[in-house]
Amino acid sequence: MGREARSAKKNRTTAARGKSNLAELPFAPEEVPRRLLTWYGVHGRDLPWRKTRDPYRIWLSEVMLQQTTVAAVIPYYERFLQRFPRLPDLAAASLDDVIQLWAGLGYYSRARNLHQAARQIVSAFAGRFPNQFDDLMTLPGIGRSTAGAILSLAFDQPVPILDGNVRRVLVRLFAWEENPRSSRAEKQLWSWAERLTPVERPHDYAQAIMDLGATLCTPGTPNCSLCPLDSLCVARQRGLSELLPQKPQKKVVPVRHQAALLISFEKTLRVVQRPPEGLLGGLWEFPVVSVPEDSSAGQAVCSWLDSAGLQQKVEFIGEIRHIYSHFRLTLEVYVVTVTDQDAATHLSGRWCPVDDLPALPLHGAHLKALQLYRQRSSVDD
Ligand code: ADE
Repeated sequence: MGREARSAKKNRTTAARGKSNLAELPFAPEEVPRRLLTWYGVHGRDLPWRKTRDPYRIWLSEVMLQQTTVAAVIPYYERFLQRFPRLPDLAAASLDDVIQLWAGLGYYSRARNLHQAARQIVSAFAGRFPNQFDDLMTLPGIGRSTAGAILSLAFDQPVPILDGNVRRVLVRLFAWEENPRSSRAEKQLWSWAERLTPVERPHDYAQAIMDLGATLCTPGTPNCSLCPLDSLCVARQRGLSELLPQKPQKKVVPVRHQAALLISFEKTLRVVQRPPEGLLGGLWEFPVVSVPEDSSAGQAVCSWLDSAGLQQKVEFIGEIRHIYSHFRLTLEVYVVTVTDQDAATHLSGRWCPVDDLPALPLHGAHLKALQLYRQRSSVDD
């Protein structure tokens, strides 16, 4: 290879291509993909979504993996694809069916966006999965990093990603000592991500850097002695590996106090579906009573039953604690046994046979309430 050709090739080894260089790099950027790709060849994980280049399947895995661990995602991913093997299957499904398959994974707006985006791909892109960054960014639930993951993993395009794992690797590699979530950090981390992404083998590189973050460059105590980037890592040189990324200031998480009413008639319970938009949209739950700070759940339940015209036998069966993304919930669970079904038909919702409830997408805390109820019933039987 002549000098000119060699230099042209060298310039093609990362995806920087004239992008802003916010800070000088402390090492040759091509060293990072070179070392990572060698390491990945030996230590890369064998995950279900790595057996395919189908953008639909890769997109699904990326959406499920936002905020959820690999181990938790795998069974959901497989079940989802058994039911909706191709994008048109998902687009044709009802939102209820999609939510049902998502129940338990949390962050349900992901399922709603996935469903809506599938319909948009059918209507606006004739069912062909977009392979251009700007097109992907028009779809609900796809941000810059997910678009980068789809383009690199499904289409082998040299587009950077910056998910939680990559972010942590870059924060340490370049010893970013400030808040890693500031807009300044965002700009700098994307610039580094861009400069390191290679033009050759971007698919493998994306998997490799995510695996490094997931298996060695982990939160807390990273396993630097096995890391292929060890001798490049600025945090390591400065003894900061365990101190970075800077921890976010602890947020005060509000606590909500509610009572769930398991209104029981023979072998059925009353259930209500939450509105499709907003928190836990589309999921089912038992009727809920908010407990004011200056009151007790027992009082709140009694006055709710009074105003609903239900004078029935009420029994407290236990308390549940559940953590949602923005608050902690304390849920006291009451069974209200009605002997006259008509007395409760003016309430919203519907009766559901107890045996059919496990198939209904109840959200986390109410699933636990159902378990309490079933345990109690099996003792009573
Ligand atoms: N986290 C996000 N995307 C991932 C992927 N493709 N493989 C493993 N972990 C991931």
